[in-house]
Amino acid sequence: MRKWVGHTGVVLALDGLPSGCRDPGCLEKLMPLFSGVKVGLPLLLREGPRLLRRVAEVAQSAGILRIADFKLADIGDVMSSSLEAIRDLGYDIAIAHAFVGVRGALEDLVVRARELGIEVLLVTSMSHEGSREFYDKHFREFLEVARELNVWGVVVPATRLHLVSEARKTMGGSVRILSPGVGVQGARYGTAICHGADYEIVGRSVIKAPDPLEAATRIVEEVERVVRSCRTSSA
Ligand code: XMP
Repeated sequence: MRKWVGHTGVVLALDGLPSGCRDPGCLEKLMPLFSGVKVGLPLLLREGPRLLRRVAEVAQSAGILRIADFKLADIGDVMSSSLEAIRDLGYDIAIAHAFVGVRGALEDLVVRARELGIEVLLVTSMSHEGSREFYDKHFREFLEVARELNVWGVVVPATRLHLVSEARKTMGGSVRILSPGVGVQGARYGTAICHGADYEIVGRSVIKAPDPLEAATRIVEEVERVVRSCRTSSA
């Protein structure tokens, strides 16, 4: 799979349907603005698998990443079964928690993912404050797990930019880093990419905006502006 998809470096988190999207073709217009789309449990539970399939189809037509964010955290057999369902819904990347451990869990997930042609993203830290209580204490070990399993990428929050820099330094250039936490959670657009992330994830700032298309365009332009400026100043 290509390392970089799309031009913007921004992934849309669809945890609900954009409330300001009254136009039936809104998803079709929204998705090409992004490098990827990430669907989560709220969307599945509220709208059902048929809508998730439609989102995957629209994303595929737009040529962007299709990420299923159910934050898998179970024994290997159960996560493998979830992966099969994720593949059947049309997604090509699945997010799992790193804390479940390798033996009997993540190692099985990674083997099944390879068989199914799905890439795995591991959560190594989280954007909320409580991540410091447990998750962040093991951040380096989670990066080590990601490296050992040779996963496609890791999730590192934009709200802790030093962790983004550390992940990039530790993991080298070939692992993708996805960073949520920009916008509503307080991190500035573009800053995670400036610290080494490949993609920033944006949810509520778009889906809860009165005009999601306008918000998406503005955010993508802001990310591009900030990234251009940090790259120019570090050149
Ligand atoms: P907002 O609305 O805050 O949405 O822009 C953020 C999206 O990203 C997800 N999220 C995370 N996912 N690790 C993750 O794997 C995290 O630290 C994290 N923080 C937020 C969230 O589920 C939503 O879809």
